[in-house]
Amino acid sequence: MKSTWSCWRLLPIHKHQTSNINLKVMVFIFLLCVTGIGVFWREDISLYFLPHDERPCACDQCLSEDGLLLSQNFSKFAEPLLSVNCNLSSADFNWWSHIPGGKGSYSSYKTTVDRIFQMLPASADVEPPSPDRCRTCAVVGNSVNLKDSHYGPLIDFQDIVMRMNRGRTKGYEADVGTRTTHHVMYPESAVDLDNTTRLVLFPFKIRDLEWITKAFSTGFSRKLILKSNIRANKDLVMVLNPAFMRYVHHVWLRKKGSYPSTGFMALVLALHICDEVHVFGFGADSDGNWSHYWEELKNKKLKTGQHPGGEEYGVLQKLAQHQIVKFYMGRDSSLSI
Ligand code: C5P
Repeated sequence: MKSTWSCWRLLPIHKHQTSNINLKVMVFIFLLCVTGIGVFWREDISLYFLPHDERPCACDQCLSEDGLLLSQNFSKFAEPLLSVNCNLSSADFNWWSHIPGGKGSYSSYKTTVDRIFQMLPASADVEPPSPDRCRTCAVVGNSVNLKDSHYGPLIDFQDIVMRMNRGRTKGYEADVGTRTTHHVMYPESAVDLDNTTRLVLFPFKIRDLEWITKAFSTGFSRKLILKSNIRANKDLVMVLNPAFMRYVHHVWLRKKGSYPSTGFMALVLALHICDEVHVFGFGADSDGNWSHYWEELKNKKLKTGQHPGGEEYGVLQKLAQHQIVKFYMGRDSSLSI
């Protein structure tokens, strides 16, 4: 009887201990899981739990928080836009003056830049990053793949809409949108702008720098320069830094090709001044030519000119795969990467 009693007494004690142990094990496993998640997804979690003003921007994902691919390239960056106090190293100048068509001495470069800043704003007006803002950008290349894409509203939805060269909207609104906040050009590709659009000059030679001051004043008439005068707001002009061009060529494109294309440099510029980048209008046609959305290609052997088109496209695809940019591939693909 005694033993039965003991057994009877023992039984509930044993059950109680077992459930205690189970509880401890469960708490231990739970803590282990939480620690594991914290360790493996530390970066992602920090996005949501960091105090608001410690995050660089207000987007879901800010560019400056993206991993290795960007930080490796960003660490070697050159100032993207020229300002009155910007000095060009002799290595940068040498690289720049070897772009086909370029010639002239460093001193004539300096004189021309000094003259530019007597007329243009002393530094470019770029909105700085802020924890309260999400600076979204659309970089719109001129690819034929924009035809029938219906990307217009999506492009117009971004804060900055960057177009380039002879890229146009009239007649193509449904596919390319209507807004242009920044228009990238060089003298041979120049177009008139309205009073609110920023003219972003990509200078490939000293003559291009001379052009901008003259095109706003006396006029500039030289061979191959179709536009001797430009209609645009000179207070909104920005000039790409030649050192940035070299940085894009050496760091982003591993020195492939002669020099980067306008579109690729515009893309890297966007990575430096935006928090979220949407890329449209990049990609050769089925014959490998950089044909445009507004015209029938005449030169079927155009390919990608002197630019490392394949390398550029590869980098763009990699950026998209790492979800650093959103890449919209146009009518040949129903999906963006
Ligand atoms: O032809 P254009 O130089 O005006 O085009 C602007 C930019 O758009 C190019 O520098 C290139 O980066 C990109 N582009 C492209 N695929 C095309 C046409 C242009 O990627 N078919």
